[in-house]
Amino acid sequence: MMEADMRRILVTGANKGIGYAIAQAILEEHSDTYVILGARSAERGRRAAEALGEQRVRSLELDVVSDDSVSRAARVLAEDPPLYAVVNNAGVMTDDVRETLAVNLLGVRRVSEALLPLLQPDGGRIVNVTSAAGPNFVSQCSPERQKLFVDPQLEWTELQAFVELCLKLGNDAKAYEAKGLGNGNAYGLSKACANSYTRWLARQHPRLHINACTPGFIDTDLTRPYAQQQGKSPEELGMKPASAGARSTLHLLFAELKGHGHYYGSDAQRSPLDRYRSPGDPPYTGD
Ligand SMILES: NC(=O)c1ccc[n+]([C@@H]2O[C@H](COP(=O)([O-])OP(=O)(O)OC[C@H]3O[C@@H](n4cnc5c(N)ncnc54)[C@H](OP(=O)(O)O)[C@@H]3O)[C@@H](O)[C@H]2O)c1
Repeated sequence: MMEADMRRILVTGANKGIGYAIAQAILEEHSDTYVILGARSAERGRRAAEALGEQRVRSLELDVVSDDSVSRAARVLAEDPPLYAVVNNAGVMTDDVRETLAVNLLGVRRVSEALLPLLQPDGGRIVNVTSAAGPNFVSQCSPERQKLFVDPQLEWTELQAFVELCLKLGNDAKAYEAKGLGNGNAYGLSKACANSYTRWLARQHPRLHINACTPGFIDTDLTRPYAQQQGKSPEELGMKPASAGARSTLHLLFAELKGHGHYYGSDAQRSPLDRYRSPGDPPYTGD
């Protein structure tokens, strides 16, 4: 099979961690796929593609915070037939609201907007890798604030205005508290926004399958500093290997799905946007 005849899937931030595991699982489980490994470092991307040891993969330089990088990547991708799917996996966990929103929300938006015209117009898919930190964040907000995140008719302009407010509040935990926004945890805030953005985006593109999911608590470079801080091993903290973190994304890429714009837990079952649902608990059935 030639690349042009395969289901082409771009995964961002795929040079390591969960993104790499997602790429590996796609290639292993679906022989009709071709994976494009997005990486902000061309060299790290090239090495990761090589490590996969597969013909059906190549790397592509893609820094989700850079307009230039994303438009360049889109031009390269436009030379081939439409994409079957985009996985917005690239993410960071920092204490800085601006830096975290730039990757985890605005990066997801930048890549989605640039690549939407390149997706198969009927049934193309976008999977946004978010986090249970999103619903956890929303659960700590005041009831008034929670409304924004769970509003099924939320507009991008409203979310954008909220982001502007957060950028003004900066990293001052007390300022967030005073506004009914918990302690303003940058990571949780960014992932809550990304979940709500996913729902908005899905509403704009009803012929596509656009959803979000958490990979679960996974041992990667992102979480390892936390384990070190706790003085415990990743296993002791219940972290799973990166391969386990690919499961929910694989479900959203290939399973038959009911509805769209939803957020899924690491067990690939629907979860609410405003509170944590443990894997194995009954799936969420609301809007
Ligand atoms: N690990 C967990 O327990 C967990 C839980 C919930 C959600 N998640 C989410 O899962 C996703 C993957 O995280 P991970 O745990 O696999 O972390 P990771 O090992 O640190 O990998 C993050 C990936 O994102 C890339 N990245 C960061 N900024 C980027 C940018 N501006 N442009 C392009 N790529 C960028 C990194 O590239 P470099 O190598 O160049 O830095 C790396 O490839 C993230 O969205 C994270 O929030 C993880």
